[in-house]
Amino acid sequence: MKSEAAENAGLNPSKLPSHVAVIMDGNGRWAKKRVLNRVKGHERGADTVRMVVRASREIGIRYLTLYAFSTENWQRPETEISALMTLLKRFLTSETRELAENNIRLNIIGEIERLPEDVQQVLEQTAEATRENDGMCLTLALSYGGRAEIAMAARAMAEAVKDGRIAPEDVGQENFAKYMYTSGMPDPELLIRTSGEFRVSNFLLWQIAYAEIFVTPTLWPDFTREEYYNILKNFQERERRFGRVPS
Ligand code: FPP
Repeated sequence: MKSEAAENAGLNPSKLPSHVAVIMDGNGRWAKKRVLNRVKGHERGADTVRMVVRASREIGIRYLTLYAFSTENWQRPETEISALMTLLKRFLTSETRELAENNIRLNIIGEIERLPEDVQQVLEQTAEATRENDGMCLTLALSYGGRAEIAMAARAMAEAVKDGRIAPEDVGQENFAKYMYTSGMPDPELLIRTSGEFRVSNFLLWQIAYAEIFVTPTLWPDFTREEYYNILKNFQERERRFGRVPS
């Protein structure tokens, strides 16, 4: 079924990235262009989130990770933060059923404890309600920063060494990954950033070591299913060498 949907979209089902990560950027500029409040841009951005989750699930992407709120975003005006939190809550409440019906598990990464209590509650409820689903893992990065994640993992590992649970020589790349939020997940093979900025903005710094990066000038609220599938097609045409010579 899924492979049929992928083929219909012009994609090779056996060459899809197992993990797609997205930096959703440009909501503010989308609103500004229309002389609207920035929050309107985020609202339209939430519609694009819905689209990209559906489109990914339909063709058989196993892991989709979206950068929904960075640690730096806490510096935005109080009103915008509060609107984003409300939007997130609304999204989770309205989507729980669709996630469940489509066998999608919700996973959260980031400093969740910094989010408002009510948002934390809805996140926990949705994660709990979808825990057994294994069709696709949708990860929302919230209050997330890549450097903070690496520091957190280093601290946890240092404590494990101190307590004698692991030896210093166990501190290596593979073991380190187990202390990250993304433990057990494959690394993203494709990183998409909308709105034309050539930056990774502290997103999944450890995990994107070998990701193919695709930057599109399209602002996130204008991002379409068609463009998403075209990016996936482009990904399938790229030759990934991981530092080796062409075979
Ligand atoms: C970047 O646009 C986007 C964000 C800071 C947050 C992303 C949030 C959403 C897509 C909406 C809600 C999310 C979910 C999961 C329902 P920007 O404000 O930085 O845009 P700009 O760079 O043009 O100002």
